[in-house]
Amino acid sequence: MNKIICKNYDEMSNIAADMVISQVRQKPDSVLGLATGSTPIGMYKKLIQMYKAGQADFSQVKTFNLDEYYKIDKDNPQSYNYYMHENFFKHVNINPQNIHIPNGSAENAEEECSNYDKMIEQSGGIDLQVLGIGVNGHIGFNEPATELNSKTHLTRLSIDTIRANARFFDSIDQVPTQAITVGMATILKAKKIILLISGKNKAEIMGKILNGKITTNIPASLLQLHPDTTIIVDEEAAYKLVS
Ligand code: GLP
Repeated sequence: MNKIICKNYDEMSNIAADMVISQVRQKPDSVLGLATGSTPIGMYKKLIQMYKAGQADFSQVKTFNLDEYYKIDKDNPQSYNYYMHENFFKHVNINPQNIHIPNGSAENAEEECSNYDKMIEQSGGIDLQVLGIGVNGHIGFNEPATELNSKTHLTRLSIDTIRANARFFDSIDQVPTQAITVGMATILKAKKIILLISGKNKAEIMGKILNGKITTNIPASLLQLHPDTTIIVDEEAAYKLVS
């Protein structure tokens, strides 16, 4: 895994945005795998700025988001669908037909998951996957477990994740207990991956994913198997490595 240690959150966000833009310049109809959470917000802001400055064109880009709570309505401000439109899509020239986010209110979750995998395959697969990481090492909503699912699936959120994500809801009871997430195979099949890690609370997990051991109990450690993953980390998250 390549590793870029940045001074701060802004530098991490700018480097990530530059990598996305250079992918889209090289291949205007790139398929991007996108993430939510607080970490990539700065990257989306920078992408919007670059678009407004005429430096980026998303008109042919296709996107597939990693995950969505289940069940949640797409208009619910806590949904990842809402997050993506507010923080990115509505500000750029992406074709709404090219946006894909798992449907968190699908009646038949199994069917939704298998259709999602089919759509990713039909698009030719992910060219560049952007990832954040949970404090427990989850990517997407692939939670630590003795076995991991390869395909898109409905999953139960761990208590650590429910606690960590409660900050976005009025109370912990409102955090959905399930989610639809793409599986590890889809993530690992992406041609290129960038993993953004920011903040002191991610320093411990950051050390664990770089210690050379690969375990399903830390899903992000599987990224060590991928031939083109770059970790972009700010100094706060990397402090255990630098000191
Ligand atoms: C969520 C998402 C992940 C995200 C993680 C970290 O649970 N499912 O895709 O990477 O949280 O979020 P944050 O960046 O807010 O720490």
